[in-house]
Amino acid sequence: MLTPRLECIVGRVRAKAAADIGCDHAYVPIRLIEDGRAERVIAADMNAGPLGIARENIGRRGLTDRIETRLGEGLSVLSPGEADVIIIAGMGGEMIETILRRDEETAKRARLVLQPMNSQYELRKFLILNGYEITAEDIAVEGYKVYNIIEAREGRRPPFENEFDYQIPPYLYGHRYFKNLYDKKKREFEKIVHGLEGAADHNKDKHDLYKYFLKELNGIEGI
Ligand SMILES: C[S@@+](CC[C@H](N)C(=O)[O-])C[C@H]1O[C@@H](n2cnc3c(N)ncnc32)[C@H](O)[C@@H]1O
Repeated sequence: MLTPRLECIVGRVRAKAAADIGCDHAYVPIRLIEDGRAERVIAADMNAGPLGIARENIGRRGLTDRIETRLGEGLSVLSPGEADVIIIAGMGGEMIETILRRDEETAKRARLVLQPMNSQYELRKFLILNGYEITAEDIAVEGYKVYNIIEAREGRRPPFENEFDYQIPPYLYGHRYFKNLYDKKKREFEKIVHGLEGAADHNKDKHDLYKYFLKELNGIEGI
């Protein structure tokens, strides 16, 4: 049994060759093969410890012929075009951006399934302003935790009209977990605004921006 977050990620993949960057335990690669969602998977991690556990799990399931493990940083373990779907999950949004920037050709030749633990706003902005289009987005919920799963590929679409849309894109408004996301973002914005109000070195631009985010959030109808 996978957690709802990992289930959601698995459910977004259909690949001849998938790559899971930062695979840790390799639960996702194993499930992709067992569910017939990928013909083969490259399970990669920059740390030998997690990759050793991944290898044990893969061996125990008898999947060493379908899942190849590779030790290395980000997309450096892949050659361009080798994977048609690349998963990068469970890391900070800024780390995901760094990984995509470092090996842009490899990133742009695949469909990306990204699950940032934070900085979703910054990651969406990076994607949209750097030659990617966001093709779909999903939300997974585990108790009070809310996760965004972002699918992207090389492409160009007009940027969002409003800055707020990078925080909560309008295409998520009808999602069954939208209320969970809404509540999380409200808590986050309020915390930032109140924090800035109490700060000695008051950052007026940031304060104004998050007050604007909060106003836009409160203006969403039908919550
Ligand atoms: C928190 S775990 C997430 C594991 C899994 N992807 C998930 O979503 O549950 C992060 C894993 O990514 C690996 N990692 C972190 N930065 C990485 C990078 N730049 N390149 C490859 N692996 C990385 C870590 O060693 C760790 O095993």
